[in-house]
Amino acid sequence: MAERETWETRLGFILAAVGSAVGLGNIWGFPFQAGQNGGAAFLVVYLAVVFLIGFPAILMEFVVGRRSRRNPIDAFRELGHGAWAIAGIVGTFTAFWVLSFYSVIGGWVLRYLGGSVTGAYFGDATAYFNAISTGPEAVALHAVFMLLVVGIVAFGVEDGIERSAKVMVPSIVVLLFGLGIWASTLSNAGAGYDYYLSPNVDVIVDNIASILPSAVGQAFFTLSLGMGAMIAYSSYLGRDDSLPRDGGIIVIFNTLVGLLAGFVVFPILFNLGIDPGRGGSGTAFKTLGGAFGQIPSGKLVGIVFFFVLLLAALSSAISLLEVVTSFAVENTSYSRPAVAVGVGTLVFLLGVPSALYSDYLTWFNLLAYDLFLPAAVLLLALFLGWVYPHGAVDELRQGTAVSATFSTVWLWFVRIVIPAGILLTLVLGVQELLVQAGVLESAILLS
Ligand code: TRP
Repeated sequence: MAERETWETRLGFILAAVGSAVGLGNIWGFPFQAGQNGGAAFLVVYLAVVFLIGFPAILMEFVVGRRSRRNPIDAFRELGHGAWAIAGIVGTFTAFWVLSFYSVIGGWVLRYLGGSVTGAYFGDATAYFNAISTGPEAVALHAVFMLLVVGIVAFGVEDGIERSAKVMVPSIVVLLFGLGIWASTLSNAGAGYDYYLSPNVDVIVDNIASILPSAVGQAFFTLSLGMGAMIAYSSYLGRDDSLPRDGGIIVIFNTLVGLLAGFVVFPILFNLGIDPGRGGSGTAFKTLGGAFGQIPSGKLVGIVFFFVLLLAALSSAISLLEVVTSFAVENTSYSRPAVAVGVGTLVFLLGVPSALYSDYLTWFNLLAYDLFLPAAVLLLALFLGWVYPHGAVDELRQGTAVSATFSTVWLWFVRIVIPAGILLTLVLGVQELLVQAGVLESAILLS
């Protein structure tokens, strides 16, 4: 096996991890999750979940990745507990699964970028979305998006992933900030901020059964947890970095970008009197597409917005492909480029049904969000908290002056708080799946 790669700089690692975290989930998902779950009420619960569950959970993946310096499956054997590789297998499988439809959405973004230049979706945004979101052209753009992802991953950790993240992540922030300033000049922007930022305690209390699982799912998804991505990235990390500090920076940065996206999206929607609560995977494209058609300088705003979305989607998709690629590179004699092309082709094929039928995409998304992702994080928490606690705490404290109190509190969060939060989410999530599938007529628990 060739010598294992590492990040060139600590900043490079942080930017790559932020690039993975900041994705469609922040810009396209977060404002709409918030919209469907009561705006500011969702925001409050979500922020609590991010810091109480998301932050300790990202440290779990860092601990496993850096200690083992292996891909997310072999990591567990390396740590002396091969049977727990099931946690890595679930995660790697989920990365493969999620990338298949993430890339279909990436294809839509490419399409909308082109559509912004020509103004193609300005007329009837809903009809445009319905026309382009499924069918042979959606398959073709899904292929183009996967090609871009494969191209970057083929170049390797330092030359491909790190270098591209150093360009993409700062661009995302600068452009999104510019859009936020522009959005603040729209009339009725104030009502958007109000909806977004003034929580109503009654709404939180009344809807906690639906807000909580959405918030946990969103927190995991946006922090790129539960699919081995952060295990893979931290496995290329040096021993002298502080995991809590890097993790903290990544969590805060990712949260700020999500918040920033809300500052762009809500003023636009309120400016046009669009209800932000209407759901579905196409909503963002339909509502924002429609909005860009009606506002001043809509073409330019559309181009910038979808370009930001493309960069965000790409820098996330490469982390998903890296999970599977690192496993195959370390277990076969094929070169990294060959593996990236091979895995990319399989992911493309798995995504074809989602590009042809929107029901597939919805189901792929729902299963990943409600089931696979929480299950993988749960397995990891049980492993670290109860099977491997000494090694976990030891690794957390490497390269940093973490106090004994911090590591003890962290360990108990891993042991109790994270599993409890996930179990609740899983139960509510499975209930939701059964209701959607028509097996259950309506929710029984906490309804
Ligand atoms: N975090 C990304 C987003 O918000 C999605 C993503 C990329 C992801 N890699 C992941 C989610 C790994 C879970 C696991 O869009």
